[in-house]
Amino acid sequence: MSKLDKKQDGPRHVAIIMDGNGRWATQKGRPRIFGHQAGAKRVREIVEACPDNNVKYLTIFAFSTENWKRTQTEVAGLMSLFRRYIIKEAENFMKEGVCVRFIGDRIKLDKKLRKLMDDIEEMTANNTRTNLTIALNYGGRDEVARATKRLAEDVAEGRLNPKDVDEETLPRYLDTYVLPDPDLVIRTSGEARISNFLLWQSAYAEYEFIETLWPDFTPDVFEKVLKGYGTRDRRFGGALV
Ligand code: IPE
Ligand code: IPE
Ligand code: MG
Repeated sequence: MSKLDKKQDGPRHVAIIMDGNGRWATQKGRPRIFGHQAGAKRVREIVEACPDNNVKYLTIFAFSTENWKRTQTEVAGLMSLFRRYIIKEAENFMKEGVCVRFIGDRIKLDKKLRKLMDDIEEMTANNTRTNLTIALNYGGRDEVARATKRLAEDVAEGRLNPKDVDEETLPRYLDTYVLPDPDLVIRTSGEARISNFLLWQSAYAEYEFIETLWPDFTPDVFEKVLKGYGTRDRRFGGALV
């Protein structure tokens, strides 16, 4: 497996909108859930490719606050897949040194899934090799709204002075408060939109929209995208010197 030549050239935090599972399955004449299963299998390989490519943080979009609009069959199939995924991957997360976190609103998820999420977070909390964040029932607007509610509560109860609210204060209320901002956001399946993913955090991220459907996203494709990132010039509003 090839490594990126220079450490500083690669993104430290990569976020992925794993899209195209449904189309992948339809192309094969199979039900959509078959595509989700194939997509879930891909995640392990991508997580395992992170250390060799100096990716310290990987954040993946698994289910959005808008995905409840899908059929009951698909939603139930996905929820069951998430439960099975956590149980199945637990041992591998420990073996690979993966620290797992979830972002998104957990309230709407069923109790059994929430318990599995809490347990895997606790079990992997001291792992430091790769930080995997799974966005589940996540929406950027929902996250900012929930953050604002808690911030307003702190103001109302005298714990926070409105004068102190700035760009440093607000992100402390976001689900991602322990994470650095993503350097690179990848979306598979050819759709060039962000679909409510990491709205605040991606203000200066680089974007890659690639045609590959998520179940076909191999570590080779991943490495190619990472190499492309190394050729970009990030200016953060400054001028080229
Ligand atoms: C992404 O694949 C996975 C989820 C949104 C859960 P899709 O299910 O959106 O696949 P397409 O976009 O319909 O092909
Ligand atoms: C975004 O994909 C959400 C996930 C990948 C989990 P969608 O397939 O839900 O997004 P839209 O509907 O194409 O914008
Ligand atoms: Mg989609």
